[in-house]
Amino acid sequence: MNNFIFENATKVYFGQGCVKEYLSCLTKSSSTVLLAYGGGSVKRNGVYDEVTGILKAAGKTIVEFSGIMANPTYAKVQEGARLAREHHADMILAVGGGSVMDCCKAVSLAARYDGDIWDNFWARPGVISVDPLPLGVIVTVAGTGSECNGGAVITNEEKKIKTGRDYPKLNPRFALMDPTYTYSVPARQMVSGGFDILSHIMETYFSGPNEDNVSDDIMEALMKSVIRNLRAAIRDPRDYTARSNLMWDATMAENRIIKMGKKCDFQCHNMEHQLGAFTDCNHGCGLAVLHPVYYRHIYKDGLPKFVRFAENVWGIARGCQSDEELALAGVNALAAFIKEIGLPTTLKELGVTDESMLKEIADSCGISAGSYRKMTHEEILKIFQECYA
Ligand code: NZQ
Ligand code: ZN
Repeated sequence: MNNFIFENATKVYFGQGCVKEYLSCLTKSSSTVLLAYGGGSVKRNGVYDEVTGILKAAGKTIVEFSGIMANPTYAKVQEGARLAREHHADMILAVGGGSVMDCCKAVSLAARYDGDIWDNFWARPGVISVDPLPLGVIVTVAGTGSECNGGAVITNEEKKIKTGRDYPKLNPRFALMDPTYTYSVPARQMVSGGFDILSHIMETYFSGPNEDNVSDDIMEALMKSVIRNLRAAIRDPRDYTARSNLMWDATMAENRIIKMGKKCDFQCHNMEHQLGAFTDCNHGCGLAVLHPVYYRHIYKDGLPKFVRFAENVWGIARGCQSDEELALAGVNALAAFIKEIGLPTTLKELGVTDESMLKEIADSCGISAGSYRKMTHEEILKIFQECYA
């Protein structure tokens, strides 16, 4: 394994009823809470009433920061930071999915920082001297794993850049994770989030080193868990076992544990983020379109791992196939799973309907240093074109 340092500062409270049991105690030291949420699902499924009821009973002043959109923008971050400053919020409580959590991480830093957070944080990664506002999260959809890392993926609409970085100071202080909160997630978003989990694991698994390492073994177990439990949750959206496994799979995929000793690829994420910056497409759906095509480009460069993936994750028995055939069978099994769970398989289905945009998007993508083969912008364009229709 490669050398590493491991730390994760987020304390997790997991399970049915955890918000009722712990939220009041976790907000004890704050008086004004910036309560952040998305487009209103929390008002329809009862989560908002439960959370505000607890905060009011504890005598908190609540400042609402609502309407955080999927693919949160830098402008929205600035709005949240202004609110936090104006009302002297001493804690941020993010209630939602990756978009709400990421936006709030950015707000927690921007509210305390006098400089321009885009120029000095996302565009030019360095260390920011201020400590962010304390942040707690209540997760309502399984997917990004943002609850247990310092990642904040933000879209700068003017510059057409969607980017993030894992900055340990931005780890939430606590994460409350009640799997029953995810029962109301629409089927399409559930499978999109599920594929995002799988993608995080694959982006880490398909990278060096290839010799025996515990991270790869954990990842095979996690991938099988995501596939099994996604199928179960599609059959029965109120299957608590499936929902709780998916919720924890998501956290495990992005709480840094499986990345230990690994290089990590994330080329598909780099490509999807720029598709998102230009077209505002759904994150997990974009990844579903890209992964099989990208893997057909690189499987020969990481052949032993792709063979392992076919055998250990998809249970494909080795017959008389060559290694290359077996590796491709694994990628085909992944593509078949994407179809089975109803995710898009082309950029057109994703809503990208102008092929002439693809070159500009491809040229704007970051190039991963951790992939089995370093991409060029020409090859990324080829991948986009193969994904198009
Ligand atoms: O906005 P509302 O009305 O709340 O509806 C949301 C939204 O429409 C809905 N939803 C969430 N919980 C629900 C629910 N609907 C019904 N019942 C519930 N309990 O789901 C929709 C999607 O929410 P969103 O937060 O956008 O989804 P997700 O969690 O997939 O987050 C996506 C964002 O996270 C970034 C993505 O790029 C994207 O911007 N990522 C963050 C990462 C990180 N910080 O570690 C890593 C990821 O790779 C990813 O890039
Ligand atoms: Zn992702």
